[in-house]
Amino acid sequence: MAYTVATVIGSLRKDSFTRKLTEAMEPLAPKDMKFVDVKIGDLPLFNQDNEGHPTAAVTAFKTAIEKADAVLFATPEYNRSVPGALKNALDVGSRPYGKSAWNGKPAAILSVSPGGFGGFGANHHLRQTLAFLNMHVLAQPEAYISNAAALLDDKGGLAKQDTKEFFGQFLQNFDALIKRYVK
Ligand code: FNR
Repeated sequence: MAYTVATVIGSLRKDSFTRKLTEAMEPLAPKDMKFVDVKIGDLPLFNQDNEGHPTAAVTAFKTAIEKADAVLFATPEYNRSVPGALKNALDVGSRPYGKSAWNGKPAAILSVSPGGFGGFGANHHLRQTLAFLNMHVLAQPEAYISNAAALLDDKGGLAKQDTKEFFGQFLQNFDALIKRYVK
């Protein structure tokens, strides 16, 4: 049964390691898993006064998330938490109250850093928010991706066999989680 996974990337940067690693991971997915890149860079800053009259960008974003069967969040860590752009997208998608686009969807988290801690702080701050949003978040394997620059080759592919194996396992486990919820 084919299904769609919305990828939500927490970095807006053109040469983002997080985006490059996510795109390099996608070919390792099980055959049923189809990715849709849902961008967050054009969303307005969330203002509760505007909940009742969303902009076109907000409506398009919420529709794209609602249409997807699951969500893969791939994020860098900013100051030991998630980038503001990603938190904004989570807030935008969650409102108006009772009309959250995230509700009940399976999700997985990939945190990425060029440093040594793999975005652990961002990963767990995100996990806290997704629990409140009633998302079913993949527990294992946890994906704290360190030393991001060294994992990519000069063509944007994955440079190391152990990274390919880890990402393959991560996506297989995500596939099994999604199939528990999406029939
Ligand atoms: C960072 N960076 C960073 N890295 C990290 O491992 N932990 C952190 O807390 C932070 N904090 C932080 C704050 C801000 C405002 C910036 C701009 C950067 C470094 C960050 O990991 C690096 O810039 C990555 O390259 C960002 O990910 P992308 O854009 O390459 O995907």
